Amino acid sequence: MRITRIFALAVIAVLLISSTTEKVHRSALLQYDKQIDGIISKMTVQEKTDMLHAKHMFVSAGVPGQGIADIKYADGPFGIREEMQPDNWNPLGLQNDKATFFPTGSALAATWSPELAYSYGTAMAREARLRGKDMILGPAINIQRIPTGGRTYEYLSEDPFLSSKMAVGYTKGAQENGVAVCIKHFALNNQENNRGSVNVIIGERAMREIYLPPFRAAVEEADAYGVMAAYNKVNGWWCAENDILMNKILRKEWGFAGMVISDWGGTHSTVNAIKNGLNVEMPDKRYLGKALLDSVKAGFVSEDIINQRVREILRVRLAINPVPENEANKEVTSQPAQQKIAYGVASKSIVLLKNDGVLPLKLGNKPVIAVIGANATQKMASGGLGAGVKTLYEITPLEGLKDRIGDKAQIIYAQGYEPVQFSFADRFRKKTPEEIEKASRQKELTAQKLTKEAVEASSKADIVIFVGGDNRAIETEGSDRENIFLPSGQDKLIASISEVNRNIITVLTSGAPNDLNVVEPLSKALLISWFNGSEGGNALADVILGIISPSGRLPFTLPFKLEDSPAYALHNYPQGDKNSDVFANLVSKTDAAGKSVTEQDKSQKSDPNSAYYSEESLLGYRWYDTKNISVKYPFGFGLTYTTFDYSNLKTNKEKYGKNDVIIVSFSLNNTGKMSADEVVQLYIHRINPSVSWPEKELKAFSRIPLNPTESKTVRLEIPVKSLMFWNESTQSWDNDLCRVELLVGASAADIRLKKEITLR
Ligand code: BGC
Repeated sequence: MRITRIFALAVIAVLLISSTTEKVHRSALLQYDKQIDGIISKMTVQEKTDMLHAKHMFVSAGVPGQGIADIKYADGPFGIREEMQPDNWNPLGLQNDKATFFPTGSALAATWSPELAYSYGTAMAREARLRGKDMILGPAINIQRIPTGGRTYEYLSEDPFLSSKMAVGYTKGAQENGVAVCIKHFALNNQENNRGSVNVIIGERAMREIYLPPFRAAVEEADAYGVMAAYNKVNGWWCAENDILMNKILRKEWGFAGMVISDWGGTHSTVNAIKNGLNVEMPDKRYLGKALLDSVKAGFVSEDIINQRVREILRVRLAINPVPENEANKEVTSQPAQQKIAYGVASKSIVLLKNDGVLPLKLGNKPVIAVIGANATQKMASGGLGAGVKTLYEITPLEGLKDRIGDKAQIIYAQGYEPVQFSFADRFRKKTPEEIEKASRQKELTAQKLTKEAVEASSKADIVIFVGGDNRAIETEGSDRENIFLPSGQDKLIASISEVNRNIITVLTSGAPNDLNVVEPLSKALLISWFNGSEGGNALADVILGIISPSGRLPFTLPFKLEDSPAYALHNYPQGDKNSDVFANLVSKTDAAGKSVTEQDKSQKSDPNSAYYSEESLLGYRWYDTKNISVKYPFGFGLTYTTFDYSNLKTNKEKYGKNDVIIVSFSLNNTGKMSADEVVQLYIHRINPSVSWPEKELKAFSRIPLNPTESKTVRLEIPVKSLMFWNESTQSWDNDLCRVELLVGASAADIRLKKEITLR
């Protein structure tokens, strides 16, 4: 009897342990721990603390006494950054460090292809190895919260599921090819204005369901070895000393075994930073140099903590083979195999938003094509500080079109508008009123001249290809855009062009949303071709000419106007000059009828350093759908040169338990005349939930290539476990077992098939 009871208790204990350990992913990095014990036992405290801060701008120390190499880091997410001087931001001036410029984050996400993200990671790793690097400072995987965000183009998407799948692809591709990733910026770096001082105030449910999933997926599904702590604070704590983010969530809950480095200059303390999980202070040693050594000596920091932080670094060091110094930079970084991958991604990222039949472009009777716009000739590889790439080459839209069209048309070009220039001087020095006045007069004169030339060229042409959008001076790290209007007077220019030529194809090379209210009705076709890397111009020309069908899908919603977007609508952003939160500055008043009402005191200025996320999980399409706000183009949208028919939706069951996987299948048929890829999307809508949810949420997707008349049975899966919510009162993941509508479609607003199932 007693033995049976003991046995039963033991079984329960094992079950309990396995059910908790089952959740924590087991990193491959743990295999080195025995070897690391030996290394650490021979190290002095000085040697240990030497590893916990920068040695140079992009290098941290190994253990020279034991022949363990330094760790070499390289920006950035979409191209291996040029070699810099060891101790400043100036370039070293090498010739061999010209890298491939890959499409930027939102372009990559617009492919909706984790397989392409994998190839992308592979390519980045190969170029990093040629340069002798151990860790890529990327992918950049924060959620795109505000359309104006300076780094929206670096980040992937407004949706956590799409971002997660792409982050996993990139991470696996890079790490399986010998280079560690450093997923950044952990966490909630969703704005660039005040990024070094802002405190993100967010509920835990939204944080865990919307903002953390890409990081969690990269750790749990792809075993990411590196994490970069963001500049901002989250709920009162700097990210680089945030116990909840780094110790509790990242390491304990997700099983992260690697190293966390600070963003450059993002460390703020010694004791808190080291205790709460930071491994390396970059790019200096203000807090984790002598101050740390002194703190150890004074007993404020135990040597056990130091050992643990050193161990986490050594795990990564031992997992990544260092490239011997004399083998780095021997050949040019950008190589054909990687350039091919850059083309592959670019060609599948371009989103066709509108086409009234003008595309693909027919060149039958040698038309005159006026290519208008500075963005047709502007290179987009550099700019954006850490995300700039010194590239071997970059095919601009004009070059791509000229090359692919050859003598089949006559191409004329006019600049049309003056691109915005980035200038450190302008950013940090206020201009005098006279200087402002002079610059604006000059600008007006130039605009008049450029408009005249563009209109003249357009009037002579059969077709106008207007190439507009932002550039890397406008979309940049360090500052957000003030609005989403097309810059440099582009709306005005296109209106003038349309008076002489109505045959306009518009291409926007932007990494983030623009206001399309003027340009869209004036264009017969409208495409977004992103900051699309070294091969961007070739990919664009191939799509315009129909050599390939467009197949990119929007990774974010394009709103009618900026003010419709959630953080703006709720006055949560921008902070500082408006009441930032619906709950901020509430005052009680008596209205005309003598009733007591609560309203916001608009005279109060909000704190510029507090970012309230009171929209909670209602981000992007989750917001627009739930609040019934119409949008210009929905999340997931993109046209192509063929048509697809969806039919015959089936599920493997009608009722699902919490450990089941919902298997959805349906037929997809290419009913048009061209081969193309369709991106099928599976959303869910909860019919009778017990907690509140957004109207719909993306839970699976797939990119399906189909030839004309070809059809395929598509199969998509949703593990019921992935539908859990974060229960703030129990501080754990919970099921919300209810009836669910499965929505299969071609975008968040184009649902073709539906079926109801039950979770129980
Ligand atoms: C950026 C990081 C980048 C680092 C090094 C910082 O300003 O936020 O993304 O990796 O600089 O260049």
